[in-house]
Amino acid sequence: ELKFFFPVEQTVAVIKPDAYGTKEEIIKKIHEAGFRIAARKETKLTREMAEEFYADHKDKEYFNDLVEHMVSGPTFFMILSREDAVEGWRALIGPTDPEKAKENPETLRAQYGTDVLRNAVHGSSNPDHAKESIRKIFGDLKFIPDGTVKEEGEE
Ligand code: PPS
Repeated sequence: ELKFFFPVEQTVAVIKPDAYGTKEEIIKKIHEAGFRIAARKETKLTREMAEEFYADHKDKEYFNDLVEHMVSGPTFFMILSREDAVEGWRALIGPTDPEKAKENPETLRAQYGTDVLRNAVHGSSNPDHAKESIRKIFGDLKFIPDGTVKEEGEE
């Protein structure tokens, strides 16, 4: 019997202000999908933090609306660990537009999203973005091979 092992990967998952009230339901679904939550951070973003987080979108016409939405209430950031976490989390949340996400009613944006702006959750688009977002939100963290986070000063 052949068994294949894939490395544990990290991605950033965000529950946006419009879905903050359903945080516990979403967390339950995250666990059911086999992710571990390696780190969590609840914060009301400042404008500067929101602009930095979405820096890649700064030339888009919707940038200001996006920043306004992200500072409108509390936001819940998580680092998720699992095999194939980046693609797996994107699959679980579904496409950016909740209307499109409804083609698969199991997706989180189908269930909790309203429109492209208030689409409930965010996910890193690739492993490099995941690393960059982890650094922006959580600072320099070290991961140990089981996907958990090494605490500062821990050996
Ligand atoms: S990406 O980088 O591939 O995820 O890009 P995209 O799917 O286009 O995500 C765009 C993010 O901007 C937010 N946003 C909008 N997108 C498109 N059109 C309009 N009008 C718009 N308004 C806001 C959208 O919520 C995406 O944010 P995230 O947090 O990535 O879901």
